[in-house]
Amino acid sequence: MSVVTAEVKGFAKINLVLDVLRKREDGYHEVEMVMQAVDLADKITIMPYQENRLETNYKYIPTDMNNLAMKAVALMQKEFPHLPPLLVKLEKNIPVAAGLAGGSADCAAVMLGINQLFDLQLSLIELEKLAAQLGSDIPFCLGGPTALATGRGEFIQKLPNCPKLYFVLIKPNFGASTPKVYGNLRLSEIEQHPSVQACVDALKIADGEQVLAALGNVLEWSTFELYPKVREIKLELQKAGCNAVLMSGSGPTVFAAFTDRKEAEDCYRKFKGKYQQVFLTETLDEEDLKERVKII
Ligand code: C5P
Repeated sequence: MSVVTAEVKGFAKINLVLDVLRKREDGYHEVEMVMQAVDLADKITIMPYQENRLETNYKYIPTDMNNLAMKAVALMQKEFPHLPPLLVKLEKNIPVAAGLAGGSADCAAVMLGINQLFDLQLSLIELEKLAAQLGSDIPFCLGGPTALATGRGEFIQKLPNCPKLYFVLIKPNFGASTPKVYGNLRLSEIEQHPSVQACVDALKIADGEQVLAALGNVLEWSTFELYPKVREIKLELQKAGCNAVLMSGSGPTVFAAFTDRKEAEDCYRKFKGKYQQVFLTETLDEEDLKERVKII
């Protein structure tokens, strides 16, 4: 008899806009972000097993219960004690510590997979509440594809689908520490904040060029100071003629965004040999997310 298995895609996210409003008493920062899911994805397979176990093709991430994917398993097992031990197979395609929410995407995918595999019938809102215990970006990764995230990032309001955009992502060969980047942010020294509203307005009228014009991320300020190479990559993309260039999340991934696929492909070809990790990816819409969990 074959074992019932869930196959789930965990999509990377980029931030079209990331603004930080203030530092909170609990150490987190109050943010306003427009988040967008893209088609760069990890593939996760979940099945019952004799013990909890993570197998992955990527050797630099922990495979014990400290991995976010396994934290999702433990949390679901705590909530639903009748669940059996699980084997999670993780095919990693999203670079780690990159500002693309790769770990959060895996965690969300595990929660979605378990919910469906065992017919737990948790609603998206219930899953979001549970996920917020494990990390600020995970609630977005459960849903998407385009949303406004507030609070510390865990409160999600759906936005209209983003008009098709293409991205060339460049991930330098080092990671950025999110706590370090937030810790180094001196909000009082930041003169110009990006406009979340301008991005939301652009999405409402489905104007891709206007979305590109609204891109902004206050964390660049901090990450560029800590990791000067990230600024260099941004300048390099701008010098190559890319008009819309931004760092994603707390970095260090920098992306150039395009409304035109061919321009994105040209840029991708230019940078592919130059950096080890260069990706060509595109926005997802509601339709694309429908098939993300498969029970086989
Ligand atoms: O929630 P998550 O575990 O992803 O956050 C990692 C770290 O990033 C936090 O411990 C905190 O230092 C920082 N952070 C923050 N404000 C946020 C999100 C994260 O200061 N809104």
